[in-house]
Amino acid sequence: MPAIVLIGAQWGDEGKGKATDLLGSRIDYVVKFNGGNNAGHTVVIGEEKYALHLLPSGILSDGVVPVIGNGVVIDVAVLFEELDGLIARGIDVSRLRVSANAHVITSYHRTLDKVTERFLGKRQIGTTGRGIGPTYADKINRVGIRIQDLFDEGILRQKVEGALDQKNQLLVKVYNRRAVTVDEIVEELLGYAERLRPMVGDTALELHRALDEGKTLLFEGGQATMLDVDHGTYPFVTSSSSTSGGAVTGSGIAPNRIDRVIGVIKAYTTRVGAGPFPTELFDEWGDFLTEKGAEFGTTTGRKRRTGWYDAPIARYSARINGVTDFVLTKLDVLTGIERIPVCVAYEVDGERFDEMPVNQTDFHHAKPIYEHFPGWTEDITGVREFSDLPANAQAYVLALEAMSGSRMSAIGVGPGRDAIVVRHDLLGA
Ligand code: GDP
Ligand code: IMO
Ligand code: MG
Repeated sequence: MPAIVLIGAQWGDEGKGKATDLLGSRIDYVVKFNGGNNAGHTVVIGEEKYALHLLPSGILSDGVVPVIGNGVVIDVAVLFEELDGLIARGIDVSRLRVSANAHVITSYHRTLDKVTERFLGKRQIGTTGRGIGPTYADKINRVGIRIQDLFDEGILRQKVEGALDQKNQLLVKVYNRRAVTVDEIVEELLGYAERLRPMVGDTALELHRALDEGKTLLFEGGQATMLDVDHGTYPFVTSSSSTSGGAVTGSGIAPNRIDRVIGVIKAYTTRVGAGPFPTELFDEWGDFLTEKGAEFGTTTGRKRRTGWYDAPIARYSARINGVTDFVLTKLDVLTGIERIPVCVAYEVDGERFDEMPVNQTDFHHAKPIYEHFPGWTEDITGVREFSDLPANAQAYVLALEAMSGSRMSAIGVGPGRDAIVVRHDLLGA
């Protein structure tokens, strides 16, 4: 089972970090293929809690080779800070590989992220302010800076000059900010080159070779399906391809090498930032999920919006990503709810939609149609076998499975590393 893609099936924070960690000991390479330090993955190992942003969560497993692929945008200062934090805690990060083709987030990208949000006013996306959107915009606009440029001062200077020709006009004339000098940017980026150099290489080639040698590769998506720039709730999305297709373009492996796609999905739904969210709760149940699920962002600390499970979104994700297995997380958070609502379809202006409407206005107006499932009160955090779950919890999982487009192969019952019930081996048949 050489190449496995793992992605978020909702709006992020499904517990991808924990799901990756679950596979850790059986993985040889873990590859981040999209996004940057907008991601935030919390992994709890015993008493230790790790928050990862730019590095793939698989880095916490002994012996694994972590790879940052070409599809990622890198804030090099943040990368070094995160590496230093892990080194200080005794994690071996010496194997890290970084694609020479990944793009670099600079200070002007961070500034532009913040000022464009401010100018959007009420139409704000609620970005993480890390410079993600402007860096991907430069990549597509062909004025980006790549990691390999940091090793050639002449080329770097030329590219920064080209980028700043436009940026300084924008910064000064439109956004009333100070101009940035070519020298300050070049000097900062050159300062990273020496430490970075040994990590950088042709990661696409290295991954191909690893596959040919029969190694097991896990492609770990940041963000999630509904935040994907093509398939998410545009424009309330991130700026990268966070669906399984992104694993191909963002790493340089071919689509026919992918064997399995794991979708991580919460037993309810959360979202950070603006944009449509049909099952969102504004009552005490919303607060219940926020508090019991500890739904505060790993990256920005923002309170996450909360709502019930949305089956049309699960089916949409299963289709778009080709999900072969779902990991259903945070089932324990639902303990104690007498009747659990699940959205099975939407109503838009009197019309029933069984699948996600393609028109964004329809989705903004979609009202969930709920079915209710009987809850359970027993503490399930210590359960490790599916048959030991309360009958109603089993029935809830099986009902979700029947309406979500793929099997529920593992079920999270607590934040800890081992708090999981495995029904089907994620790497097996
Ligand atoms: P990611 O961005 O998808 O990696 O998810 P985050 O780490 O941002 O958010 C998921 C949070 O849920 C983390 O704090 C995890 O420790 C926690 N978590 C993961 N799985 C479970 C679970 O099954 N039960 C509970 N209670 N917490 C979980
Ligand atoms: P993980 O990997 C949840 C959201 C932001 C904002 C939108 C665009 O932890 O699941 P950006 O800074 O990317 O341009 O912001 O996307 N967002 C996330 N929400 N989890 C994430 O990552 C996110 N990364 C970005 O809140 O609405
Ligand atoms: Mg997160």
